[in-house]
Amino acid sequence: MLRVRDLRKAYGSRQALAGFSLDVEQGETVVIMGPSGCGKSTALKSIIRLVQPDSGVVTWRGRDVSDMSADELRAFRRRTGFVFQRSNLIGRLSVLHNVMLPGAMAGESMERARCAAYEALEAVGMAESAGAFVTGLSGGEMQRVAIARAIVNRPDLVLWDEPTSALDPMLVIDILTLMESLSRSLGATMVVVTHEAGFAMRAADRVALVDCGRVVEEGPPARVLSCPSSILGRRYAACLAYSAGAQKEKASGL
Ligand SMILES: Nc1ncnc2c1ncn2[C@@H]1O[C@H](COP(=O)(O)OP(=O)(O)OP(=O)(O)O)[C@@H](O)[C@H]1O
Ligand SMILES: [Mg+2]
Repeated sequence: MLRVRDLRKAYGSRQALAGFSLDVEQGETVVIMGPSGCGKSTALKSIIRLVQPDSGVVTWRGRDVSDMSADELRAFRRRTGFVFQRSNLIGRLSVLHNVMLPGAMAGESMERARCAAYEALEAVGMAESAGAFVTGLSGGEMQRVAIARAIVNRPDLVLWDEPTSALDPMLVIDILTLMESLSRSLGATMVVVTHEAGFAMRAADRVALVDCGRVVEEGPPARVLSCPSSILGRRYAACLAYSAGAQKEKASGL
């Protein structure tokens, strides 16, 4: 389905990707975790060629993305939703028009694009704000609208780049719950970059740990996060144990 093989990408002397490989099967949700600067965003962007890797291969349903014609690449991107690390909604457009954009760019009639946008806004609980301008929205609301825009074309593949990193803890839960239900209802293949281990445990089929531009360990979340073999995995497991301990102490009133 999605095959990423040995991607390399350098920015000057900085090696952002150093042999990044990952396979994701149809309908699978794979969570990517790793320290800041290890190449997670570069890897996601390389999949849809927003970043041009120096070498390596990405294939989607057997087709090499770098061999795609401009039309094929456009079609692939149209069938792929991308939720960015920071909201990139268009401030001077309404919520509805932001979400209508992918449909309009795909050449759909305005009526069809509008219906699909309302449906997507409904799915993320933002239909009532359709007429509002995005500049007046809270961070969590903006991220919901960004998610609606990513799913409006009923994508086959959704790439999530730390969709909760700019949100306060209450909104984080809110958005993670929404993502979890979308991962079930959309049936799309999902690659999710997040530091939220709880989400990974509940929603991921597999977790891939990335360090210094490559995947250092991958497998079922329970194994990777509870019984890891890599140094990075052991660091994540220690963090999880720490938060579980803190929660227990809180529950017992300590
Ligand atoms: N456009 C760019 N120009 C120069 N260097 C870049 C560029 N994009 C990324 N880098 C560098 O490449 C490395 C990997 O960046 P990337 O954004 O992929 O990391 P990340 O794992 O997503 O980090 P974070 O968790 O902070 O989002 C970093 O050292 C970053 O500074
Ligand atoms: Mg990033």
